[in-house]
Amino acid sequence: MLRKLLPAIACFFLAQICFGNLIETVSSPDGNIRLRIVTVGANATGDKLAYEIDYKSNGVISTSQLGFVLKEPAARLEYFTVTGKEQNTVNETWQPVWGEVREIRNNYNQLRLKLKGEKGILVELILRVFNDGVGFRYAFPVQPNLNHFIIADELTQFALTGDHKAFWIPGDYDTNEYGYYTSKLSGVDASGGGFAQEIHAKTSFDKNAVQTPLMMKSEKGLYINIHEAALVNYPAMNLVVDKTTFTLDAHLVPDAVGNKAYLQAPAVTPWRTIVISDKATEILASKLVLNLNEPSRITDVSWIKPQKMVGVWWEMHVGKSSWDFSGGQVGSQQSSKVPHGANTPNVKRYIDFAAKHGIEGVLVEGWNTGWEDWFGQWKEDVFDFVTPYPDFDVKELQQYAASKGVKLIMHHETSASVTNYERWMDTAYRFMNRFGYAAVKTGYVGRIIPRGEHHDGQWMVRHYERVMQKTAAYKIMVDMHEPVRPTGLHRSYPNFLACEAARGNEFNAWSVGNQPEHETILPFTRLMGGPMDYTPGIFKIKMNHYNPDKKEQVHTTLTKQLALYITMYSPLQMAADLPENYEARMDAFQFIKDVAVDWDDTRILDAEPGDYVIIARKSKGKESWFLGAITDETARNFTTSLNFLDAGKKYAATIYRDGDNADWKANPEAYVIEKFLVDNKTSLKLKLAPGGGTAISFNPASPEEIKQIKKYK
Ligand code: NOJ
Ligand code: CA
Repeated sequence: MLRKLLPAIACFFLAQICFGNLIETVSSPDGNIRLRIVTVGANATGDKLAYEIDYKSNGVISTSQLGFVLKEPAARLEYFTVTGKEQNTVNETWQPVWGEVREIRNNYNQLRLKLKGEKGILVELILRVFNDGVGFRYAFPVQPNLNHFIIADELTQFALTGDHKAFWIPGDYDTNEYGYYTSKLSGVDASGGGFAQEIHAKTSFDKNAVQTPLMMKSEKGLYINIHEAALVNYPAMNLVVDKTTFTLDAHLVPDAVGNKAYLQAPAVTPWRTIVISDKATEILASKLVLNLNEPSRITDVSWIKPQKMVGVWWEMHVGKSSWDFSGGQVGSQQSSKVPHGANTPNVKRYIDFAAKHGIEGVLVEGWNTGWEDWFGQWKEDVFDFVTPYPDFDVKELQQYAASKGVKLIMHHETSASVTNYERWMDTAYRFMNRFGYAAVKTGYVGRIIPRGEHHDGQWMVRHYERVMQKTAAYKIMVDMHEPVRPTGLHRSYPNFLACEAARGNEFNAWSVGNQPEHETILPFTRLMGGPMDYTPGIFKIKMNHYNPDKKEQVHTTLTKQLALYITMYSPLQMAADLPENYEARMDAFQFIKDVAVDWDDTRILDAEPGDYVIIARKSKGKESWFLGAITDETARNFTTSLNFLDAGKKYAATIYRDGDNADWKANPEAYVIEKFLVDNKTSLKLKLAPGGGTAISFNPASPEEIKQIKKYK
């Protein structure tokens, strides 16, 4: 009895915040984070297990439940006998194929608990405590008897210790293309859905739930981010919010018949991740999600190339041309007919532009038959991914692009008819190999076929992974639109360059758009799981440029669009505006030409979710640095030290900043470009307009430049 009580007493006096009987404690290598496994009751099967986390002796997660409800075999796995315990420490570094930094440290203390639950079912709980947070997962090892399980519910909870401020989008089985709400947890009201998800399939459900990555800030200034890592063969997790206890309950996306997941032992769940810091900048610097993913499954990665692209794309979104051959403009709310965008001469124009400015890729949408009735239909066979429209000459464009040293990027809109896509994948990728396409952008607009399945359910999660695997087999890089939110799988499949899985810049072309704070929240939410194809770089901010009746606009200044190339990390970055809009402003376009897409180093200089983000990055294998600073609707001034630059070196800094009277609404396109000589002792004054931003490139100055360029003061 005393032996059972002692840990609880110790726990009470030492931490004052654990409530159950202590089974085991795991601390982070630096000792700041402590995770406790406790028991909170018992029955004939064993003890009811829970976990608790604190950070620098402050409670982050109070006693929170663990376990499952199984449908087959019918069982409730929440009482367990502990049959084994193993602890170990890992401290290693690894190098990503591409990324924000050249080298990543993976340092954690691990506890593996072997458990036996109802009906003798074996489960393991694997917990890793890093300096920047905690990851834990369940495993179903091979069992003596039955080895297949149907999960009816995952019982994992995240009991928060206060009514934190939260940056959230409503729970949904099919889309994440929402604007973010900021409220206390007690104020989360997901019942009204989001503002506003205009075109994609949407299946909000009858629970007050939010999606992950969920970013929170406590009253004491602690930053907490909850998400998952390595989501493989399992549905995505929504979090049901209890507005009075501030407890979040895992709610998995169901399949067509209401089951959550089918597991065949040996099986593991994704990691549940909690990134914790008292500095917002450290949340953005965290590599915890990547560290919890498996190393690259692709051995020859020589064909995987971070890159920039332009595309026959924005012109459809702004209603200048159409995806479909007849010019019907499906999807852009244009009533009159417009030309078909993906015609050979127009594609050549983009190839010329890309070649002239050193941009590697040209995306072409609307090149293939099917767009006449692709949207909102119940047709299964919409696209075949190999039949071009008559005005798109595949062979001629292949030769033309090759002669200019540019690669065309394939587009596979599946219209969410995934059974059809699965039937065509091999043929479509062979077609790409044959005609010189090295990358594909996929898309899943609409309701999933097989009917009743969801974008974020287990069946689709398997599909996205199959696409990563199959494209890799054909040496094809992939960018997915409308997939499940990413969970760091780009470590295992580095050909998975980017995805959308959030509300991208495109919403600014044809909807109420993205509020000026949107891009200051995304790095803390969606981007915690991986790179986003946000499609920045819009110079013509107001859509009345294309049609006087249009009220839509991009909710940023022009130079904020430039800063996004730094603040919105992706190894695949689109220069999304039209060539003619860039031609008209070559001085500002210079930044997009220069900016790198792969990095040796990243410094998160300053950040606050919903307010501002300032990041500096050093080009991979080069001496140049780039800085991006963005703000929400509030004008802000910063003094930023350039102490990240090499000591003793002089740099030519080209500053692309908001014009003095710039404002995202009233005067979004006003900008100033200035050049100064700086070094690592310089403190730069950044002045950001409402909805504004600053982008800077730093290059080691030549002797000439040192003489000519004026010193910054
Ligand atoms: C939605 C995607 O996000 C967008 O980029 C694409 O142009 C359309 N679907 C059409 O596939
Ligand atoms: Ca989309």
